[in-house]
This record gives sequence, structure tokens and C-alpha cells, in this order.
Amino acid sequence: MQYGEHIQDCELIHGDCIETLSQLDSESVDLVLTDPPYNLGQFMKGRYTNLHKMRENYFGAAGWDDAAPHEWELLMQHYFQELANVVVPGANVIVFMAVLKVETVVKIAEEYGFYYKTTGVWHKTNPMPRNMNLHFVNSTESWIHFTYKKKRGTFNNDNSMYHDFVESSVTPSSEKRFGKHPTQKPLVVLKHFISLLSNPGDLVLDPFMGSGSTGVAALDLGRRFIGVELDQKYYDIAKSRMSQGAGLWSTMD
Ligand SMILES: C[S@@+](CC[C@H](N)C(=O)[O-])C[C@H]1O[C@@H](n2cnc3c(N)ncnc32)[C@H](O)[C@@H]1O
Repeated sequence: MQYGEHIQDCELIHGDCIETLSQLDSESVDLVLTDPPYNLGQFMKGRYTNLHKMRENYFGAAGWDDAAPHEWELLMQHYFQELANVVVPGANVIVFMAVLKVETVVKIAEEYGFYYKTTGVWHKTNPMPRNMNLHFVNSTESWIHFTYKKKRGTFNNDNSMYHDFVESSVTPSSEKRFGKHPTQKPLVVLKHFISLLSNPGDLVLDPFMGSGSTGVAALDLGRRFIGVELDQKYYDIAKSRMSQGAGLWSTMD
């Protein structure tokens, strides 16, 4: 079924994921890999750091990261409710999240049938040295792993041990040639999860796709992809990235 714009093996939808998820086929998605708003805008504004002076695209000022706490919790509730209809039993779900909000997200996801497995960490080896003389430099983000309805999902570990952290540099500029997203995730981190938690031909969903990084990684690994993005600017970046063709994204400089 075609939902939005069809490019390569992707369906890209410009809109609100809470509205559009209900239009997707039920029990069709094998892996959800997503990076929703952490909603740290209001928290960061109260911190009196010099963050806004260092980055003109400071995400604390972005509308999508600035909701009142209860509004954000409502968004997360609706999101997991809709997600429950589109994933196959045993689907894997990875949600990037701020450490501060992990407990809230786990609680909400469990209400809708998602089985909590692990909280892990993405460590950035070259973080922005923000306020380095004031406190520890923020160099990590969390990710939460769930499966839906079942306690086991695809886990292609090939008998190797996988630790609950991933490490990489921040997103290189070579992955931003079509435009920047202030919280863009690097392809190497997304590919790690896609390889381990899905198989070629599987359908990967990112309901908060931003600049489409999950889609780029999924297509590069021979998966199908559906991505949803509310903001026209980021949707257009995702579309440009996806239009490039498999294999080109990660190799071009
Ligand atoms: C943290 S960013 C994702 C960045 C992405 N991982 C990347 O690599 O570019 C979250 C995105 O979700 C979008 N968003 C917020 N609320 C949304 C909603 N209800 N439906 C769809 N997209 C939404 C925002 O516009 C923002 O681009």
C-alpha cells in the first residue's frame, strides 16, 4: 500500500505521526528505530548555559522540543498506542531518549504491550565541549530496547556478545550535505541496530524521521522503510537524501 511519496524502497510521509500511523497496515512493521523529541527545551532554558550562543540551530529553541511536560507525555502515549497497531508481534523497537526521560517512556510503552529489554547508551567520542570548565561534558544519549508482545525478537548476534553501548563520533559533515538537522544521528549507529535487529527485506519505521537518517541506513542495508516527519524543511532534506540511491549515502564525501 502506498501512503506518501514513494522513493526507492521507502514511503515518506509529510505529517503528524499520530495521525498517519493509524493509516498504515496493521502488523506490518518489523523494526521501529526512532529518535522522538526529548522535550528538553524548557529544561535547557532554565539551565543558564551558553548553549544558545554556540549553536544557531540550538534545538532547545525548536518548537518540536519545547512542549509542556504533560503535552509531551500525551504525545508519547498516543505514539505507543498507535505503534501497537502497526508492529508485528516480536517486532523490535529502539527509541533514543534523554537519560532523564527513560523511566517515563518505559512506563508508557509497557502500558501498550511493549516488553522492556534494555537501556543502553550512545557515547559520542567528540562531543561539543560545552561548559567544560563548569561540569562534566554531556557526551551520551540513551536508547531503549523493547519487543512487542513477545520477549524475543530478531537478534542477529551470531553468537557474539553485544554490549549495551555504542560508540561513534558525532554525525560527520559528509552526512549533512543536503542540510542539517540539529539532532541528526550518524548512520554508523543506526546501521548497528538495523543489522542486529532486522533482516534484509524487513520493514523499518521511523515516525520521527527528521532528516531521514534511519531511512538512509535502512535502504543501504536492503530493508524497506516508512518515515514520517512533521516539519517541511526536514522532510525535504530526508527526501533529497533518500533520492540519492542505495549505496551512495555512506560512501560519498
Ligand atoms: C530528534 S528529531 C529526529 C532527528 C533524526 N534522528 C535525524 O537523524 O535527523 C525529532 C523529529 O521529530 C519531528 N516531529 C516532532 N513531532 C512529530 C510528530 N508528531 N509527527 C512527526 N514528526 C514529528 C520533529 O520535527 C523532528 O525533526
